[in-house]
Amino acid sequence: MSVLERIAQQAELRRTFAIISHPDAGKTTLTEKLLLFGGAIQLAGTVKGRKASRHATSDWMALEQQRGISITTSVMQFPYNGKVVNLLDTPGHEDFSEDTYRTLTAVDSALMVIDAAKGVETRTIKLMEVCRLRDTPIITFVNKLDREGRPPLELLDEVEKVLNLKCTPITWPLGMGRDFKGVYHLLEDRFYLYSGDKHRVSEIETIDGLRAPGLAERFGDVYQTLLDEIDLVQMAGDGFNLDDYRAAKLTPVFFGAAINNFGVRELLNGFTDWAPSPLPRIAEFNGVEREVYPQHGKFTGFVFKIQANMDPKHRDRVAFLRVCSGVYRKGMSLHSVRLDGPVRVNSALTFMAADREAVEEAYPGDIIGLHNHGAIAIGDSLSEGENLRFTGIPSFAPDLFRRVILKDPLKAKQLNKGLDQLCEEGATQVYRPITNNDVVLGAVGTLQFDVVQYRLQDEYSVASAFEPVTVHCARWVVCSDPKKLKDFVDKNELRIAKDHYGELVYLASSAVNLAMAKERFPDIQFLDTRTHV
Ligand code: G4P
Repeated sequence: MSVLERIAQQAELRRTFAIISHPDAGKTTLTEKLLLFGGAIQLAGTVKGRKASRHATSDWMALEQQRGISITTSVMQFPYNGKVVNLLDTPGHEDFSEDTYRTLTAVDSALMVIDAAKGVETRTIKLMEVCRLRDTPIITFVNKLDREGRPPLELLDEVEKVLNLKCTPITWPLGMGRDFKGVYHLLEDRFYLYSGDKHRVSEIETIDGLRAPGLAERFGDVYQTLLDEIDLVQMAGDGFNLDDYRAAKLTPVFFGAAINNFGVRELLNGFTDWAPSPLPRIAEFNGVEREVYPQHGKFTGFVFKIQANMDPKHRDRVAFLRVCSGVYRKGMSLHSVRLDGPVRVNSALTFMAADREAVEEAYPGDIIGLHNHGAIAIGDSLSEGENLRFTGIPSFAPDLFRRVILKDPLKAKQLNKGLDQLCEEGATQVYRPITNNDVVLGAVGTLQFDVVQYRLQDEYSVASAFEPVTVHCARWVVCSDPKKLKDFVDKNELRIAKDHYGELVYLASSAVNLAMAKERFPDIQFLDTRTHV
């Protein structure tokens, strides 16, 4: 087999995805069960235990422990059904950072978890908006059927209306709560009966045929309800269509109770059968945008996340890179498109079953962790030498702003160094007004400020405090005419700042202020996302 054939074959096996959900819907539980079914862990319960011990190895992650939440994302790889599944975890707390968004740029599909009692919740709506930007295909899992929840038809109706996504049920619940008896698989025409075993992947009873003899006697009313609902579903829907799923026009829906391993195997089977293998990515090459296919012979990838000090013994950073094409081999030299030169990495890691291992080879769809001392920034494209720059790894305009107060004025240098590094990791955004020496931080969640404060103290020995600032929103400002841009900047200099990359930003004091600026300067574009260069 030629190298190109091998790359194509390996890429075809990859399924790279993330779970999107509102906190408490069951993402952690489902992750654990997916690993259990994937054979990556023997007994459920290991994810939490291992997470906790890994946290303990890192100083600043003590903050995570204090809060009892996971701020950082991680990557888990496991084999299933002959496929190689890469699961990118996203932070699960109410408060979250840009990491969550950017992680979604590194996946080919997503799994949406919905709590059967709560339906579509706010965070899910927000994350779906991000998935929409790239038409990411979504599989839905309605969780916690072992508890009383809302009627399944109502839940699907809500997904269709609120998320504007057509639903095609693949399984359908037989009862709910105390009367939960199992699910009926519409494509297989088979019942999977609920056992409620919390810990082991036990064999479960199945019955073939929607109208198999004895079902009415055995299950009574809940069976009749299921027959009525299936009738409605079949009358209303066109059934599952793979192309529509891949085009993000419909979502196949599974029901289950993750906590008791129920419905997870069917979900994983559907997922590995249907979810797309690595898709081509848009990159700019010599000023022209083109698609880079996984089979493209040369190695390329982009960095979507940077994490500091995963290992306190080495105070370096790990850049998470999604392989887009070719093959990564251990020890190979990497070219940074941004720096137009080689980057030195100390070692590379994969995330097989969440235990970090040294990589021998990584293929399109895989994530590798590259140890470096700050040469790699978020959004960087790395290659074997080609100047292919992946586009579309966004910076989001933050919603929250604070002015930094330095407690010891002699530490200004350390403060700036620390902030620049934290900014490159995506922990916060830094704005420096052009008319004074203030430093304004921006974030998409308040927790980010706590993290920055903690890390400035812990890693850079800088004591800082943050105070409110009258900034309502930040917009990158661009204009095709440099003269008009200069005129705009001159007339608004008190509200203009530069971001970490030196790009001009307008710090609007209120929504009205922004609206007025747009009206007075119609040639200026006010952007709320910016692609890294
Ligand atoms: P998250 O990562 O999306 O935030 O949710 P997580 O998995 O932590 O689950 C949130 C809560 O919901 C947990 O309970 C978990 O046990 C429960 N849960 C998850 N799946 C199911 C399910 O299928 N059925 C039922 N009945 N509960 C489920 P907790 O009490 O908050 O935490 P714990 O003490 O049980 O860990």
